[in-house]
Amino acid sequence: MEDRIIVALDAPDAATALSLVDRVGPACGFYKVGLELFAAEGPGVVEALTGRGKRVFLDLKLHDIPNTVAGAVARVGALGVTFVTMHAMGGREMLVAASGAAPGSLTLLGVTVLTSLDGPGLEAVFGRRVDDAGAEADRLARLVREGGLGGAVCSAAEAARVGETMGPEACIVTPGIRLAGDAVHDQRRVRTASQAFAAGATHIVVGRPVAAAADPAAAFARIAAEARGEDAA
Ligand code: C5P
Repeated sequence: MEDRIIVALDAPDAATALSLVDRVGPACGFYKVGLELFAAEGPGVVEALTGRGKRVFLDLKLHDIPNTVAGAVARVGALGVTFVTMHAMGGREMLVAASGAAPGSLTLLGVTVLTSLDGPGLEAVFGRRVDDAGAEADRLARLVREGGLGGAVCSAAEAARVGETMGPEACIVTPGIRLAGDAVHDQRRVRTASQAFAAGATHIVVGRPVAAAADPAAAFARIAAEARGEDAA
């Protein structure tokens, strides 16, 4: 179970991020590096993590012309990361080019609809009426599958639907995880780890519930226990 729980390193620099890795301890072997940390530290922070035997989810949310994204994917592949994200809205050709550039060790994850976009926000992007953001996510998940990507990032609320569209081999990665009674922060629709896995997530991403805890190792252990269906108290 622990290998399916990814802790988000939403930190401004490598020192802060690696100190959290040390405080979480050996139970966690999988970390997400996002744009903030990668912009500050570049590939060095990825190497620091892989050098400690950790797997890395590089959340770059790539979105550019096919040739540019394929080049970026090839460089990311050489870093030895496990997951990298890109926007489905980059289109079929971009997704196909990315798939062609990825080494077998790298799983590409498609981002369908950002959860920060609500109905009116999506209508402004698409230039048409949007009645069901979930249906748009599902349509984009189909594009992700047809582009040859190995998985998708989505909310746990959409995991079952997106998982069905992507097929049984796909990785379904869901953020927005909280223990019952935790602070929700800026997340809207949170789920517990066990709810996310029951809905079809293959991996979950947990940020502040671990990073902001007084004892990050204990917080990680509580989430893993809850995911296994044990009493989280
Ligand atoms: O702190 P928290 O657990 O909310 O962090 C969740 C992580 O997942 C953050 O790194 C955030 O950027 C990311 N994420 C998210 N919702 C999405 C996509 C990514 O919370 N829809």
